Amino acid sequence: MADVLCIGGTGTVGRPVVDGLAARGVSVRCLTRSADRAGASDDGVRAADGAAAADGGVEFVLGDLEQPDTLGPALEGVSRMHLLTALHPREAELGIGAIDAAAEAGVERIVFHSAHRAHAAPHIPHFASKMEILATLETSGVPWVTIEPNHYFQNDLWLRRSLEAGVYPAPLGAVGLHRVDVRDIADATVNALLDDGHAGIRYPVVGPELLASEDVARVWSDHLDREIEYVGDDLDAWEARAGRRLPDWLVRDLRVMSEHFLSDGLIATEEDFATMSHVLGHAPRVFDDFVAETVAAWSGGGAS
Ligand SMILES: NC(=O)c1ccc[n+]([C@@H]2O[C@H](COP(=O)([O-])OP(=O)(O)OC[C@H]3O[C@@H](n4cnc5c(N)ncnc54)[C@H](OP(=O)(O)O)[C@@H]3O)[C@@H](O)[C@H]2O)c1
Repeated sequence: MADVLCIGGTGTVGRPVVDGLAARGVSVRCLTRSADRAGASDDGVRAADGAAAADGGVEFVLGDLEQPDTLGPALEGVSRMHLLTALHPREAELGIGAIDAAAEAGVERIVFHSAHRAHAAPHIPHFASKMEILATLETSGVPWVTIEPNHYFQNDLWLRRSLEAGVYPAPLGAVGLHRVDVRDIADATVNALLDDGHAGIRYPVVGPELLASEDVARVWSDHLDREIEYVGDDLDAWEARAGRRLPDWLVRDLRVMSEHFLSDGLIATEEDFATMSHVLGHAPRVFDDFVAETVAAWSGGGAS
């Protein structure tokens, strides 16, 4: 029997959320589309016949938001749900399906992973999806909280090859973003799932500094000890590169988001920081520390 169902619990944000819940003694069930993961716990113990595999408080269960029939069994006995919807052309429909299934199963709290200031840029398709899902949450009858993170520091982990070649290619622009460490997003999510007093609150989760592209390139330059050139403002070049590895719908969506970052940034207000402090419980992590740790890990000197 699990206390919390994590949808998205095997991804970038979900993994530290699951770890944080387990560290607080909560039993967690993770939905995954991977039969391998669902059939084996981390220590390789297999569960019989597709049953959930136990892993000292964390179990993995086979399921897919695209197959709503898989959600009922995954929700059995669960009182809280973390809902993280991956980027998908039907993200809103899939998220709404999960809320409907949770309401049907009697779930008592949903914490939904949205995006910072999604309401301010509904022309970005995946921001619009987040707002559609929120509208359903608000009328679902299930107590809810949203976690609304800025751009993750950890997105830069995908850029290792470019950085090692002296280039920062992600389109961040000169206005700046209050980028945030995924570990802070996870801390806020765990608190929202387990502690009282958060119902109905939309929590921005943001980093402490406004980081423009030149700031980000400079921090990487300092720690890699080489000149890093920012080249992200050329969105046609970005699109040509992204189109080699991502589907067309996603390239279009991310291009609209990048245009928004270049024109408006993604900026936190004083009110955002004040609101966040109620759920985070500590000061947000600093980009310079993330880069220092990452460079140490890449050179074999520390954890990533
Ligand atoms: N990147 C950013 O800077 C940023 C900032 C703010 C908000 N966001 C939002 O954060 C979300 C992405 O989070 P992330 O980076 O942690 O994701 P991620 O690392 O890409 O992981 C995606 C997770 O979703 C699960 N998943 C994918 N499709 C699924 C389906 N059909 N049914 C059930 N589970 C499914 C995957 O599980 P399996 O593969 O195990 O099935 C995995 O656990 C997006 O909604 C994005 O808009 C991102």
